[in-house]
Amino acid sequence: MVPLRFNEKKFERQTVVVNGKRITYRAFLDLDYLMMPVAEEQQLNVFVPEPYFNQGKVNRYSRVTAPIFMPNTIGGYLPGPRDYPGNPAPYSRGATILQALARGYVVVSAGVRGRTTQNGGEFVGKAPAFIVDLKAAIRYVKFNAGWIPGDTERIITNGTSAGGAASALAGASGNADFFTMRLTELGAAPATDDIFAVSAYCPIHNLEHADAAYEWQFNGLNTWHNQQFSRVGNQLQVEPIAGKLSAKEQALSTQLKAAFPTYVNSLHLRNDQEAPLTLDDQGQGPFQQAIVNELKWSAQQVLDAGGDVAGQRGLTIQAGHVTRLDWAQYLRGLTRMKAVPAFDTLDLSSAETQLFGNRLLAARHFTSFAQKRSNVPAQQADPDLVTAINPVSYLGTNQSQVAQYWRIRHGAADRDTSFAIPFILATLLKNQGRDVDLAFPWGRPHDGDYDLPELFDWIDRICQ
Ligand code: DHB
Repeated sequence: MVPLRFNEKKFERQTVVVNGKRITYRAFLDLDYLMMPVAEEQQLNVFVPEPYFNQGKVNRYSRVTAPIFMPNTIGGYLPGPRDYPGNPAPYSRGATILQALARGYVVVSAGVRGRTTQNGGEFVGKAPAFIVDLKAAIRYVKFNAGWIPGDTERIITNGTSAGGAASALAGASGNADFFTMRLTELGAAPATDDIFAVSAYCPIHNLEHADAAYEWQFNGLNTWHNQQFSRVGNQLQVEPIAGKLSAKEQALSTQLKAAFPTYVNSLHLRNDQEAPLTLDDQGQGPFQQAIVNELKWSAQQVLDAGGDVAGQRGLTIQAGHVTRLDWAQYLRGLTRMKAVPAFDTLDLSSAETQLFGNRLLAARHFTSFAQKRSNVPAQQADPDLVTAINPVSYLGTNQSQVAQYWRIRHGAADRDTSFAIPFILATLLKNQGRDVDLAFPWGRPHDGDYDLPELFDWIDRICQ
């Protein structure tokens, strides 16, 4: 038998009711996608609508034409285990898998390593492990073209937050050299890893610029309001916590904010009319206005549908039209979530500093800004590594094959990263000729998979 070859002999058949309809699917569980796995996470599950084994069709798709939907369970850059319907774990997206099956998609749920993954007392899941594993799973699917049900040229990844970043990175870095050796070492299947389309909810990415973006947005708001999560068994407990920025943090905020226009202007972003999206030294200009317009448009959609936008501050509405969004007021209503720096925290406590640890170090800085100002003995991750896991860094280069179709959602009430971050990703993609569907759903906090019917309509449009 060829190693890593998909084999349809061993499966569990399940029948469930989804949206009031009975569906039957086959679950192929705990499949190895690597010859030399180093962690328990590195297996995947495949779910296939039963009709595809009997020449049947679902939603006009057949065994040969069905899209292959790859939702991940990554959150907080933690390990993202393979998922299944009915999974009781708090990270599970089992409902997403069932909805996708009801639409006729083949679902591949791959487990990937994360920042806390250990083996023999060493960390084995630090960056870039999450994307190496996701790519290895994609290679497994493509290596199995013709054996695995579904169209391996129609792979769509999906994820939320850190998982959205992983999804976006998979779409931006197809076949990039940086990962080749690492994939080979783990015994990934000999195949390509470029994909057809990306769905990303609130992707926490572009980490080396996220601190400046955050202060560009929240500078002047000196109280942060966050939540503390603790896990009691399978239950997630949430407690609100708050704090004030120190004078030193406020000064850092101003420095970080000042660095942002230079970065934005270096990208040479353009809007749909080819006008440059820039910022002046004060952090104002067409780039900011474009984001305000996106938010206004989002509020207008709610009004047009007969909904209520009263929950948010800063809007002016005249005769059913959103005529103004006062940026400062809107943000005051939203509140700041994170202290300064938001991501490369000076005490190495953030998920992102922990992502950039290595075999022996739990965490490292990933910007020279934070490294220079660290509160603790610290090392800095190799900038090439930081760049390699940033989807934005591939755009406009010839270092990868970039997915053609992108759907990016970032809640208009999401404070986990600046609105600028998804906006930059979407705009660069558009500027490079990719087909991008970007929206900031009104009132939505940091969340994902909340509009699956619309997501799947989009998938059907690009696939049918
Ligand atoms: C996630 C949220 C964050 O605020 C962050 O900094 C990193 C990851 C998440 O929900 O995955």
